[in-house]
Amino acid sequence: MSQHSIAVIGLQWGDEGKGKVIDLLSARAQHIARAQGGNNAGHTIVAGGKEHRFHLVPSGILYPHTTCYIGGGTVVDPKSLIAELEELKKSKIAFAGRLLISAYAHLIFPYHKLLDEKTEKGAGAIGTTKRGIGPCYTDKAARVGIRVAELLSPEALRAALRRNVEEKNRELGSHLKWEDLLDEYSRYAEILFPFVGPVEDLLYEASSRKEKILFEGAQGTLLDVTFGTYPFVTSSCTFAGGICSGLGVGPTKIGHVLGIAKAYTTRVGGGPFPTELSEEDRPLFPDNVASREIGATTGRLRRMGWLDLVLLRHAIRLNGSDSLAVMKLDILDNVREIKVCTGYRLHGKVTDRFPALLEDLELVEPVYEVFPGWMTPTHHIAAFGDLPKEAKGYIQYLERQTGVPVSLISVGPERERTIWVKQLL
Ligand code: IMP
Repeated sequence: MSQHSIAVIGLQWGDEGKGKVIDLLSARAQHIARAQGGNNAGHTIVAGGKEHRFHLVPSGILYPHTTCYIGGGTVVDPKSLIAELEELKKSKIAFAGRLLISAYAHLIFPYHKLLDEKTEKGAGAIGTTKRGIGPCYTDKAARVGIRVAELLSPEALRAALRRNVEEKNRELGSHLKWEDLLDEYSRYAEILFPFVGPVEDLLYEASSRKEKILFEGAQGTLLDVTFGTYPFVTSSCTFAGGICSGLGVGPTKIGHVLGIAKAYTTRVGGGPFPTELSEEDRPLFPDNVASREIGATTGRLRRMGWLDLVLLRHAIRLNGSDSLAVMKLDILDNVREIKVCTGYRLHGKVTDRFPALLEDLELVEPVYEVFPGWMTPTHHIAAFGDLPKEAKGYIQYLERQTGVPVSLISVGPERERTIWVKQLL
């Protein structure tokens, strides 16, 4: 088991604050690798007084000593990736030779976005980011997708586009021309060609040399296509297992799985959310602006709710989380009464199992334990021992209930607003 690598994985529905933890750990990592998802993800990093927004490029690119990887399990929208690279250029962040894309990654085409938009207008809408993520993964599973490998081969790209565009036009009732897409994507190929490399081999070699690797999860465990709140999920494997399948890395190469959870719960898009704030509880909680709960990719207001231990234990088990990062504890600073869901009442019985059936999840009634709030600011606190007694109690309760130690607590968006309980990586 390598102790030189760490996987950072969201334990809820995404937006847990992985971006901040990834940024902190990137300072110590030599290699940072993204395994799944695409530009549906988004995080904002404030560094050197400037705000940087990332969707597909690992934010570790801000540290000049790192090499960053976009794995074979991701879906790449070349237009959006090139725009991200342009932003980096403008900010004078040198990335040549430090960013590598796997030839196995699948490409998003305009017809994927059109299909995503079409589905979102119908009865099957789930509130996607409309970035074409689902339709691209659908093509991958149906074995008709087009990968970065084909992008770099003019003949293969031409043949695949000819076949796919005809089929997509039928499905969409559109008149896209494969020749236009061939021109557009050939231009992208020229720009991206220098960045395509043997990601899988390089990560294996780095791991053999015991160099420090950070595996960057995107979205969250409950958005996983298999174990999430299906069908209100994204289309990739978002839990720790996805690191292996999405980067071509063996499970023995993951040294530590750090699960990231907010001190409460949020979700964007549709789908069941058992602990969502009731009308009655809403005034107890800071609003979306005060709690910084507005989506980085789509600008949507996130739905908010109490911490859900049934959901968290489900996610911890799926990931085999070794430790936890508790994010945004400061948002609870002025909440007089804090509720934590310890079980679900379903069909007259209390259960601590997370149900697989959507209809059951919609029916469950959360069973809450109520804790007194600490009603004092925590954002200036740097050591666990200095937290107010009620906040310490909240964290210790969470550790007891999950059986997993907390290794860091975040009390504000800035890098320094972090309480390290245990050094990682
Ligand atoms: P898609 O990934 O765009 O297909 O969207 C599917 C579901 O995942 C929707 O509910 C989205 O809101 C959600 N989702 C996708 N990416 C993220 C993310 O990075 N954070 C939070 N939710 C996400």
